[in-house]
Order: sequence, then structure tokens, then C-alpha cells
Amino acid sequence: MKKVLKPTLLALSMTMGGYVMASSAMFSDMINVERTAPVSASHWQDDKVKMDAFLDGLISKMTLQEKVGQLDLQSGFRNVTGPFVNEAYEQQIKDGQVGAIFNAYGADFGRQLQRIAVEETRLGIPLIVGHDIIHGHKTIFPQSIGEAATWDLNAVKLSARVAAKEASADGIMWTFAPMADLVRDPRWGRVSEAAGEDVFLSTAIAVARVEGFQGDDLSQDDTIMATAKHFVGYGLSQGGRDYHTTDVSEHELWTTQMPPFKAMVDAGVATFMTSFNDLNGVPATGSKRLLNDILRDQWGFEGFVVTDYTAINELVPHGYARDDKHAAEIAFNAGADMDMVGQLYINHLEDLVAEGKVSEDKINTSVRQILEMKWRLGLFEDPYRYNDEARAERDILSNDNLAAARHVARKSFVLLKNDNQTLPLKDDEIKSIALIGPLADSKSDMIGNWAAAGDRKSHPVTVLEGFKHRFGDNVKINYAKGASYDYITSKEDTKVRDGLGISSIRADDSSLKKDMKRAISAAKKSDVIVMVMGEEQRMSGEASSRVELTLPGNQQQVMEELKKLGKPMVLVVMSGRPNDLRWADENVDAILHAWYPGTMGGIAVADVLSGDYIPTGKLPMTFPRSVGQVPIYYNEKNTGRPYLADNPNQRQEHYKSRYDDSPNTPLYAFGHGLSYTQFDYSEIKLSSETMSVNGELTVSVDVTNSGEFAGEEVVQLYTRQHVGSITRPVKELKGFQKVHFGKGESKTITFTLTAEDLAFYRADMSWGVEPSQFDVFIGTASDNVKQASFELVEK
Ligand code: BGC
Repeated sequence: MKKVLKPTLLALSMTMGGYVMASSAMFSDMINVERTAPVSASHWQDDKVKMDAFLDGLISKMTLQEKVGQLDLQSGFRNVTGPFVNEAYEQQIKDGQVGAIFNAYGADFGRQLQRIAVEETRLGIPLIVGHDIIHGHKTIFPQSIGEAATWDLNAVKLSARVAAKEASADGIMWTFAPMADLVRDPRWGRVSEAAGEDVFLSTAIAVARVEGFQGDDLSQDDTIMATAKHFVGYGLSQGGRDYHTTDVSEHELWTTQMPPFKAMVDAGVATFMTSFNDLNGVPATGSKRLLNDILRDQWGFEGFVVTDYTAINELVPHGYARDDKHAAEIAFNAGADMDMVGQLYINHLEDLVAEGKVSEDKINTSVRQILEMKWRLGLFEDPYRYNDEARAERDILSNDNLAAARHVARKSFVLLKNDNQTLPLKDDEIKSIALIGPLADSKSDMIGNWAAAGDRKSHPVTVLEGFKHRFGDNVKINYAKGASYDYITSKEDTKVRDGLGISSIRADDSSLKKDMKRAISAAKKSDVIVMVMGEEQRMSGEASSRVELTLPGNQQQVMEELKKLGKPMVLVVMSGRPNDLRWADENVDAILHAWYPGTMGGIAVADVLSGDYIPTGKLPMTFPRSVGQVPIYYNEKNTGRPYLADNPNQRQEHYKSRYDDSPNTPLYAFGHGLSYTQFDYSEIKLSSETMSVNGELTVSVDVTNSGEFAGEEVVQLYTRQHVGSITRPVKELKGFQKVHFGKGESKTITFTLTAEDLAFYRADMSWGVEPSQFDVFIGTASDNVKQASFELVEK
């Protein structure tokens, strides 16, 4: 039978003999495996004298109106990301009222806008062109939470590196990423953009992304400015409802929310974005404490701060500003240098200067920070350097980039369950596979909700295409969509959802029954049932919060019908959040979480299900049993009445911290992720039973691959401080290593703990250690570890 290959598959088969194998070695020239230096490298210092002279001259020629123009960021019309756009942006560029633009990519389109700025304004200052390059520009990598599930910093950096290469050829020199908001509530749609619930992992990933986007030198034409967003606390929105209030203690703020942002400053991130939320009574966009006192004075940030989309205007509904003018005054004086879309700076700053409410000196400082970035990007030297049609043609969706996307995608999948070694699918035994589900052959869902400029129609490879490509004529694939992931709604709800453009169906829709019948007949003809179920991509992301975590539509019902056939069942989940998978956990043989895997997702799923690649992903976020457990995260406090589930006398456990109708434990813990092979851990060896506050402690474990395949394991290290001046979590991730093991191979994995690893914000908010007894844990998941103890002592 002749295989019909779609464009992406065709490109691969032509250049790689029909089957692209990706290995880390292939990408070593695309990333620096070692950490790169922060962007303020030495050549930048040499350039500084030249730059200062140039910018002093330029700023001295600028009128106040032209200066204020530099503080304005406008949105174009490509992939509009907010509720308001301004149609007059071209005229405003001509009028010198725009310093930067976003949602306006394309080498040619960028050139056209840049030409207006350079040739038709009095001073010819080039524009910065930005875009949300979140997990790829046109070659789309796994959704951010999936990238975090790789626990592989090289993979994360590679994704950002490729994205920067593609974007910078396509007219873009600034991305609004990484998002480093720490998240604990899967109802919030934006958990899909985060790196999960843990501060150690989130911080490492945020830095890897900054390094990938910015490289070690912003002046290279294939690097772009990164943005640390959203500063700060946005991930804690109450009830998981987007844009909602956050209220967080000082300790919690500094312990879990601030560290990724501080680390990005240290890594030289070029820009910061304010967040929408009200943080402890002050909207972050109007917070002088955050934007000036902490970010500038305490952390020494030298780039510029952009607001989120119309976030200054929102100070009015927040109840923090009387009107738009007052909002502009508050935000600018707080330290927000650039106004995204809201146009309040161009409308009000000149008057505010005249009234003495805003100082021109402060405007000069903000303008200078923005112009410095333009200089560092090389825009004054060549404003069109990011508009390189030939490079775009060569670099975008290149075979190397597609292979990189496949490499990262298969690393991002998490094997949640695998009873009876149902996976991998053995193609010498299996003659037919029923492939069922609304996500099995849906191109647009493969690339997730924030795939920026990613094409949803032709390039993404679906699981059905991936299966056909992998199994060819050897195995018959019986495909049926089978179910719908659209919300099932009442008539009234349908109206609301239609208004919002959200798809919904009625439970009595007769096409649902027909689809289900087709699925059952496909399954009857097959040796194994593979279901690709989950959420439509737009159920995650901004403004996409849910109150349920169950699989929407009639997917559950269809799975229940298929279960009656008594055949082996595999569930591949695609979604941007932890879902309630209780039924599947009890009834399905194997579950693989594949997030939204990107352009090469279908090939990568086939790689993993077939065993061509052994799964290595680990959960960056706890999967609750039910939405009622939320917020649930591994590094909780112990409470005064910790519940002991294994106490044989459960009567003693009644007045304990627990639920009547659910275990406390999650369905799948943070760090969980199985392999097709088996890793055995020895007991922990410590270099000593005490550690001095000035010393260090070596902690090691022998890990043996006792299973049937070579594979990678993420060895995780956690600690627990028993007593502190404030109470300490039951476990905290302090290190991890992703290590390759040949079949039968044993390795000693060693970590070195120092005082810095054990430091925390003490009761008086000072950063440091306190002598105490500690537990140290090493294992394969936060709930599956070996344990030892040591004492931290003064010396
Ligand atoms: C989002 C930001 C994004 C911006 C520009 C906002 O609505 O919160 O994350 O970068 O839009 O698209």
C-alpha cells in the first residue's frame, strides 16, 4: 500500500531515509551544553562607551512626545492575544508614537513596519518587534508544562534556541517568555505555560529558557530578548480563575514565587513583564515595591519593564486608580517602563510631566533603558537584520528543527501507568490497533494553545499519521474519532459558550452515538485499543480556567463502552493540565500523558508507544484524585495533626488532617513517571552523619537498571528540615540528575549538599540555615524514595 505523506513527514522521509532518529549528539552544535555566561559579557562593556555617546546624543535631540512614544507598545493583527487592539498603529508609528510592536511577525511585514519607523519618522528610531514565542515559533515544541516534564535542561534550552533562530529570521527580536509563575492549581488554564509546582525545577527551567533565547550575546542576529513574566504571583489566582486576586504571605512569596525571577535577573534577562493580578491589595502593575524597590534597587535589574496587555488601564477596575490618567501616573512612577496596548502613556504622560506628577528625568531613564536594548540588538546598526527572508526560508521548519522538536517531544511524555507491560506495543505480536479519540487525528490540537505563529493545518503530525508512518503495512490501524471533547451543555449554557466561541454539544446529539458505534466496531476488529483523549487545546491557556478536571464531553462514556470489550487498553492523554484520571487509573492498562506535544507530536507518540524510545518524563505537577483536593502539592507542611494512612488503628486517625471521602495522597505524585525498564535504588550513603554550616555533605545512591531496555532515569534528591524558626515543608527538591543507563548497568549517583541548598527565609526574613536534624531522600518520584538522616551543626 502506498503511504501518503503530509508535508512534514515528506520532508523527513526525503532527507532522512524515511525515518528521523534524533539523538542528543545531533543537537550539540545547536546548544551549549554548559551554561552560557550572562548576557553582560565583556564585549558589551567595550561597546558601552560608544553606546553611551550615541544614546546621549539621540536622547538630547528627542522631544518629550518622542520620548513618550518610545514607551508605547502596540499590537498588530497577527495572533491577537487580548481584548483590545488598535487599528491605527501604522499611522502611530509614523507619528513617532510607537517604540515597539508585537503580533506583527513575518520577515516582509516586519520590514514594512520597520521602514515606516526608520524612514518616515523624524529621528528614524527603529522598532522592537515582539511576539509570544512560548514553545517554538513555527516549529512547535511541546507545550511549556510538557517541556518541564522532560526534567532535561538541555532539551528545554534547545527548544528556546530553535525558537530564537526561527523567530529572529522572521522579523522578531523579542519574546514574551519565559513564564515563570509557580503553579499549584490545575483549574488555572495557564498551568500549561508554566514549569509546574516546584521552585527548584521552575527556576532551573526559567534560566535554561533565558539562555536558549538570548544565547550569550544579544547582538548576534539569531538571538532574541527574553521576558521574565509575570511579575509576580499570577500563578496563585484564587479559585484558579484567571486574572483573579492573589493573597500570599511574605514567606510564601519569597520562598516559591520570587526565586525564578531573581535567577533570571542574574542570568541577564533583557526585560520583565508585570502581572495582571492584585497581590496582597496592590495590583502588581502599580506596585513600586515590586518594580522599583525589589527589581531595580535590590536585584539590580538593568533591562526594561513592560506591562501586560492593558494592565495599566486595569488599575481602574481593580479600584487602585481613579481614572486612566491616574493609572498612568501610578504605573509609570511604580517602574513600568513600557505600556502594552493600553495607550495611556501616549495619552497622559506629557500632561503628567506638565503637572509635575511625573518627572522628565524618570522618563529619560525609561527611554534610555529601551534604547539601550535597541542598541544591544544591533538595530541602530541595521534595523532590518531580523528581516532576513533567505534565512527564514532556510531556517524555519528546517529538518534539524523538526528533528529537535521530535527529540524534545518524546522526552516530555510521562508514563503514568503500565500494567502487565502493555507498553511498548510489540509489532511482532500485534496485528491491529484501534486508534480512537477526538485527539487521535486533530492537527490543530497537536501544537497546544499558545503556539504563536505555528501552523495548525498542515505541518503538525497527528498520532494517526505517526502510527501509519511507524507501523506501515505491518499493523492495521483501525481509526475512529469515537468521542467528542466539546463541553456537553444545556441549552442556556450553549448560548453563553457560543458567544465566547467555545464549542459545545448536546448530550442527545445523535452523531455522538454514531461515532461511538464506529469506535466499538474498530475496537472489535483490533488486538489492542489505543485511545487519544483529553482536552481541546483551547481549554488550556489564558482565560481558559475550568472547574472540573475530568475529561470533557462524552470521552469517559466511550472509554467505559470500550472497556466492556475486555481488550488491552492504552490511554494517551493530551491536555495542558493535570486531569482527574481516576477512572482510567482503575480501568485502563497503560496511561501516557503527552501534553500538547508540538509539530512532531504524532511521530513522537509513535516512537514511545512502539518502544523505539523509552519514556523518561516525570511530572512537574501533582495530579490530584479530584478537583476537591486542589491545591495539592508535594512540598506541603506537615500540620499539627498529620494523618497516618498506614496506622492500623484508624480510629486514632479520626481527628487528623484528612478528608472523609478521599485519601490525602494524589493520584500521581510530583516527580512520578515510569519507564519500560526498571531502576532499583540502593540505600543512601552519606559522607557523614553531621554537616557543618560551613561544610558540605556527599549523598549518594547506587542505581541499577534491572529491566529489559537501556533507558534514562531522573534521580531526584529531596530534603526535610525537622525544626525551624518557621515550619518547613515535608520535602523539598534540591537536586536531580537525568542519567542514561545501559541494560543491566549500575551507577553511583552522587549529590553534594552545601549550606546554600539548605538555606531558607527564616522567621525574620533573613536568608540562611538553622541547625537542625534533616532527612535526605533520593528516589524516582517524590513519593518513592530512600531515606537517610543527618544533623546540620554550627561550627
Ligand atoms: C498575556 C501575556 C502575553 C501578552 C501579549 C497577555 O494577555 O498575559 O502573557 O505575553 O498578552 O500577548
